[in-house]
Amino acid sequence: MQKLALSWQRKGLRVAFVPTMGYLHEGHLSLVRLARRHAGPKGRVIVSIYVNPTQFGPGEDLERYPRDLNRDLHLCRTAGVDVVFAPTDNAMYPGFHHGQYSTFVVEEQLSRTMEGAARPVHFRGVTTIVAKLFHLVLPQIAVFGAKDWQQAAIIRRMVADLNFPVRIIVGPTVREPDGLALSSRNSYLTPEERRQATVLYQAILMARQQVHHAPKPADQLKQLVAQFVAARPLARLDYVEFFNSDSLQPVPIVQPGSHMALAVFIGKTRLIDNDQL
Ligand code: PAJ
Repeated sequence: MQKLALSWQRKGLRVAFVPTMGYLHEGHLSLVRLARRHAGPKGRVIVSIYVNPTQFGPGEDLERYPRDLNRDLHLCRTAGVDVVFAPTDNAMYPGFHHGQYSTFVVEEQLSRTMEGAARPVHFRGVTTIVAKLFHLVLPQIAVFGAKDWQQAAIIRRMVADLNFPVRIIVGPTVREPDGLALSSRNSYLTPEERRQATVLYQAILMARQQVHHAPKPADQLKQLVAQFVAARPLARLDYVEFFNSDSLQPVPIVQPGSHMALAVFIGKTRLIDNDQL
């Protein structure tokens, strides 16, 4: 991959990169189209497909994370992707299980809250794999989804702090008609869980409605969200947070333009969503 990327660099080709863990859906494909717009017809669009073990904690869903490489390759071909980079664990982390891998990239501020608090090793794994992928793919542009808002903010910070010559673009969250954000993990849901999974987006709409006429204290709104989620028997709120969209700093008073993020267990499946209010 790196040899190929260096040959493109010598030819002056513009490279736009979409990192994924595969089991591709319309959310991923919308990022591919955004990447093509930024690369131009003569540029190169690269998608990586790699279920990165270091961003999964013990007891999480690494082993059962859905995989279908042939289907993903077909979707990428149809979408006009130039190269799919789908490395093995051995290629990305050689010697990992023999103590031969010991370098990690850690973002130390934005990674502490929300997903970082709920999943302690998660963002260390994400920043490490994305840094490695950037070194292999050598993109000028990398495209991430707003669905993982905190992840995109952390990648932006990493790129700024470590001087990666990469421009980060963030594409909007793609949703099902009933508002559920597309996610590879939606495939875990039973039909009844799938019906109750709309609670994440509906909680965002409810909070937006609540602050529409007057700002509201975050604590009060968090309680309302907790009650709203608890009304679905299969749903359990993990966290809900209100914060500034850019800085991720929590806001004590929520108003239109404030950002909301939440994580909810639907049965055993943990889903996340976020949007500006
Ligand atoms: P994955 O969950 O496969 O997501 C890959 C990219 O697609 C991420 O940037 C994510 O935000 C985006 N995405 C997912 N669902 C989306 C939706 N409904 N609408 C728009 N974009 C969506 O995020 C990861 O993989 C990994 O952490 C990765 C960055 C690849 C590092 O391993």
